[in-house]
Amino acid sequence: MKQHDLVILGSGYTGRFLFPLAAQRYPSVFAASREPERRLAHLPADRRLHFDLMRRDTWPNIPASADLLWCFPAQPPESVQAVAAAIKAPARRLVVLGSTSAYDVDNSSAYPPPWIDETAPVDPCKPRVQGEEFLRRECGAIVLRVAGIYGPGRNPLDWIRLGRVGPSGKYVNLIHVEDLASICLAALAQGKPGEIYNVSDGVPRTWDEICKTAQERWNVTPAAGSRTDLPGKRIVACKVGTHLGVAIRHSDLYAALEFLERSNATSAEGP
Ligand SMILES: NC(=O)c1ccc[n+]([C@@H]2O[C@H](COP(=O)([O-])OP(=O)(O)OC[C@H]3O[C@@H](n4cnc5c(N)ncnc54)[C@H](OP(=O)(O)O)[C@@H]3O)[C@@H](O)[C@H]2O)c1
Repeated sequence: MKQHDLVILGSGYTGRFLFPLAAQRYPSVFAASREPERRLAHLPADRRLHFDLMRRDTWPNIPASADLLWCFPAQPPESVQAVAAAIKAPARRLVVLGSTSAYDVDNSSAYPPPWIDETAPVDPCKPRVQGEEFLRRECGAIVLRVAGIYGPGRNPLDWIRLGRVGPSGKYVNLIHVEDLASICLAALAQGKPGEIYNVSDGVPRTWDEICKTAQERWNVTPAAGSRTDLPGKRIVACKVGTHLGVAIRHSDLYAALEFLERSNATSAEGP
């Protein structure tokens, strides 16, 4: 059977890590952007595509029959439906990156918060959920509900330093971008059309725990920031292991943070 090409729709942070990995498995990989010359200057010109969900004139740039990795919020739903028809999405392998925020349905203050697997209800009022559910139900898209993405250049210790997050009992679920990239490709290769897979490293942690460890191991003191009383979520993400056969490489958050800190220090020192 002829192997298809791959298009990464929305080549931002995750797309940058996906591209080289996908290039090892696909005959040709293309990255799409709303401003390809500016945003994708690091790629050869023949690998860049101009694509904007809000600009119908860019939709024919997507090569027929290529597999698709949709890496930006699938909204507004009307545009999602229109582009899906225009590019014949139901006839392709399609993986859509959603978010675990789809599960924000109740205001329960139960603590610790209940575990959430792929059968948990999502909020149908959210435009993004509507877009994803259309692609999943009508086009056979495989939807990944992704936890907080971190990795090189997105270091949770910096979020603490800058006061974007601070100590609280709120649970957070994280995934290293390299694991996310592997899971995206496994979903394209083995995922069942219409299926949902939660994506996280499998270990929900509280910001209290992360901040305490950050202080002890890296002397990171939280900047004054807003505290929260929200319980957060605890995401169950075993299905990617049992159904897609992916083993999480960065399941030890603190080992991954150590690596990010060392890389920061090395790049700050210069050559
Ligand atoms: N960051 C997180 O912690 C997190 C957590 C859960 C889920 N997610 C989801 O996971 C996916 C990947 O995340 P990421 O952090 O890698 O995203 P990202 O860095 O924002 O990259 C997505 C790229 O998509 C392009 N894009 C945005 N709107 C578009 C539109 N209307 N039409 C066409 N292209 C558009 C943008 O690139 P150009 O400007 O070059 O077009 C953007 O850089 C996203 O769907 C995100 O919402 C992220």
